[in-house]
Amino acid sequence: MPDQSHQKKILVIHGPNLNMLGKREPHIYGHQGLAEIDGQLKKQGQKLGIDVRTFQSNHEGVIVEEIQGAMGKCHGIIINPAAYTHTSVAIRDALTMLDVPVIEVHLSNINSREPFRHSSLIADIVAARVAGFGARGYLLALEGLAGMI
Ligand code: DQA
Repeated sequence: MPDQSHQKKILVIHGPNLNMLGKREPHIYGHQGLAEIDGQLKKQGQKLGIDVRTFQSNHEGVIVEEIQGAMGKCHGIIINPAAYTHTSVAIRDALTMLDVPVIEVHLSNINSREPFRHSSLIADIVAARVAGFGARGYLLALEGLAGMI
């Protein structure tokens, strides 16, 4: 087996209700399910020589613990905090502890939607944001992050 200990590692975090992608308001979030998106990310990671791990939770504290657990163990994070984007100081604080680049992803263009979606509590601490490209945004984020790490 090849030695993969020097392989770069990226963690992809999906927040609440993203487990319902495909069924959830497809006119906004598209028809692709989360398993398919995660599969594409892993496949693209293999092509880039990056180990991609994916994670989804509907619970704020569980997401915080996942971020804490990633400290010192990954080279970058892609996160769609979903509704917690607009509310969670706890997720922001956890991400701030990491010293690796974080990319914020949204399937929809949050700035062209309801006013409460315009603010992101992580906007000023992320390295970059991709929004409005649907599921493709995750692959764009991976490509961008690969160039940063
Ligand atoms: C979202 C946008 C959020 O406002 C919303 O709560 C989501 C998904 C997006 O990917 O477009 O759940 O993060």
